Amino acid sequence: MTVSLANSPNELRTICELPTESALPRAARFLADLVKEPAFLGSQILPLLSEAKHADGWYVARRYDAPDGAYSLQVFVWPPGTGTKIHDHSSWGAYACALGTLLEERYDRTDDGSKAEHASLRKAWQLLWSPQDGTSTVLPGDGGIHRVGNPGESVAVSVHLYGPRLEEIDGRDYDPSRDYVCDRTED
Ligand SMILES: [Fe+2]
Repeated sequence: MTVSLANSPNELRTICELPTESALPRAARFLADLVKEPAFLGSQILPLLSEAKHADGWYVARRYDAPDGAYSLQVFVWPPGTGTKIHDHSSWGAYACALGTLLEERYDRTDDGSKAEHASLRKAWQLLWSPQDGTSTVLPGDGGIHRVGNPGESVAVSVHLYGPRLEEIDGRDYDPSRDYVCDRTED
């Protein structure tokens, strides 16, 4: 399938109107196809590399949001050695690496969530993702606690699709060194 951002809004809306279990495999296929498309790589990804060399941290270089919040497509740039904190999202999410390699760590929660601002985590798995490896998907909230970073020595770029938010907040940030969790109010 040929994918491009020019014709993607309808496809993205269709995907994001599906129930989560149907949306995730469609989102995964969409992103895996998108990051392999030469026109997309040439126009949207490769131009990011020159500015990325001067960045200290990871950042969102491009963002395409549905006006009604039905989806958000975001292009992340990861200079070498950068990475997120452990977090989750209030929507489902999917991402595919378009350049370089990303390390994803995934966590399970071992407490019952009954104590405010308390969460104990157990690392479930970690995987390296390169463009040929397809798409990683996360469920909303506790079903998708993760951390993503670039352990390599060259810039990585990834494309993320988030479905509709199920809560007012964007997601949660976790600090396992003190079993702490808090709401995140902005990206
Ligand atoms: Fe995330």
